Amino acid sequence: MKPSTENVSHISPILVGLMGSGKSSIGRRLSRYLKLPLIDLDDYIVEKAGRSIPEIFEQHGEAVFRQMETDALREVAGKPAVIATGGGAVLSAINRKILKEHPPVIWLKASPEFLARRIDGDSNRPLIAAGDTLSKLREQVEIRYPLYEQCADFILPRSNMRKREAMQSIIDFLNKRAGC
Ligand code: S3P
Repeated sequence: MKPSTENVSHISPILVGLMGSGKSSIGRRLSRYLKLPLIDLDDYIVEKAGRSIPEIFEQHGEAVFRQMETDALREVAGKPAVIATGGGAVLSAINRKILKEHPPVIWLKASPEFLARRIDGDSNRPLIAAGDTLSKLREQVEIRYPLYEQCADFILPRSNMRKREAMQSIIDFLNKRAGC
């Protein structure tokens, strides 16, 4: 029997985590389950800018992308939707404040080894375009894990979990949060 969404249907979760942790795909499943639209922050930025993420990085630089990311997060946070953020959304203190103000924030926590297998060679991710993906991810872990942790209301360990189990774990958390 499909679990009822009645108690959790008013919740608008925001997903955070490193590149490749499954924010978009888990977000898609979660949005179907909660019957809410999915807002993928990268897609939102691309649509608004009329440029791809690599083009924005190449033509304007990372700082401009980060500003667009903050503007986008500000615009969508609080909407009745599942929001999948980009991996670097937690880098800015303003973004972290916005995230803290819009719980629940769910961190899809995965090891660099797990992620490198999934994203190696992905040309749509400028931050891993040059150099060794695993070393880049390890550097990101050092800087970003503590930031995800600051913002997260729930931490989902992704590495050894299938998508269906991951979803169930999130649903259990949402139900618990709703007091069921
Ligand atoms: C980034 C992650 C990307 C995208 C941009 C920067 C990052 O999103 O926002 O390339 O800093 O980790 P995904 O996490 O969806 O790949």
